[in-house]
Amino acid sequence: MLIVCNYKMNGNLNLYSKLIKQLNKVEGTKLILCPPFVYMSQFKRQLKFHLLGAQDVSAFDEGKSTGQISAHMLIDMGCKYTLVGHSERRVFESDEIVAQKIVAAQKSDIIPIVCVGETDRGMGYAGFKHQVESAFNAASKTKPLIVAYEPVWAIGSNQSPDADYVGEMIKNIKAAAQKYNIDAKILYGGNVNQHNFKSLKSTGVDGFLLGRLSIDSDRFFEFLRRVYE
Ligand code: PGA
Repeated sequence: MLIVCNYKMNGNLNLYSKLIKQLNKVEGTKLILCPPFVYMSQFKRQLKFHLLGAQDVSAFDEGKSTGQISAHMLIDMGCKYTLVGHSERRVFESDEIVAQKIVAAQKSDIIPIVCVGETDRGMGYAGFKHQVESAFNAASKTKPLIVAYEPVWAIGSNQSPDADYVGEMIKNIKAAAQKYNIDAKILYGGNVNQHNFKSLKSTGVDGFLLGRLSIDSDRFFEFLRRVYE
């Protein structure tokens, strides 16, 4: 099971110091941790086993992009993964920009974790097919890619889809991957918690993308224990 933690715009030096100490005790599993950019060096210095991911990457290599972070810079920081097209960024990013970011990441051998999902409950695959097709169309056929299916209505809420529905969406994503000749791992994200992870796991996903749970250390370490027990 691949577990990706998206800390979003949360936390501070002190909180991450404590969290990293706890994370360094969990040796058996490799987690992919995506802190805010400014705390990346703290993670790089203090983290013992886990892998580093970014929450976003620039579509451009260098130059006139004030405030952005390039794939080369992520490599410098020991970062191996980056989220791309999280729904909180798709508010102002088109499928085309997301596609450019996938290309930029893969060119530098950073593995993109492309987030896709419908905005409203009931939309089904038709609600995000364009995101999936645009991502697969842009992605390399030979470099690794991860897709995170995240129904936007479940993110940050107390709702989550049932396993049958998630299974159906995963089937559609896998069929699209096959059409584009891409071998992608697929995660589920959106209100994953210790109560629903077992049924979500039964859909055949390769892992989870966690938001709130990752920053709530008591619940997070309890969740990890259950996932791997
Ligand atoms: P959540 O967020 O786990 O807090 O619902 C998931 C995400 O935004 O990826």
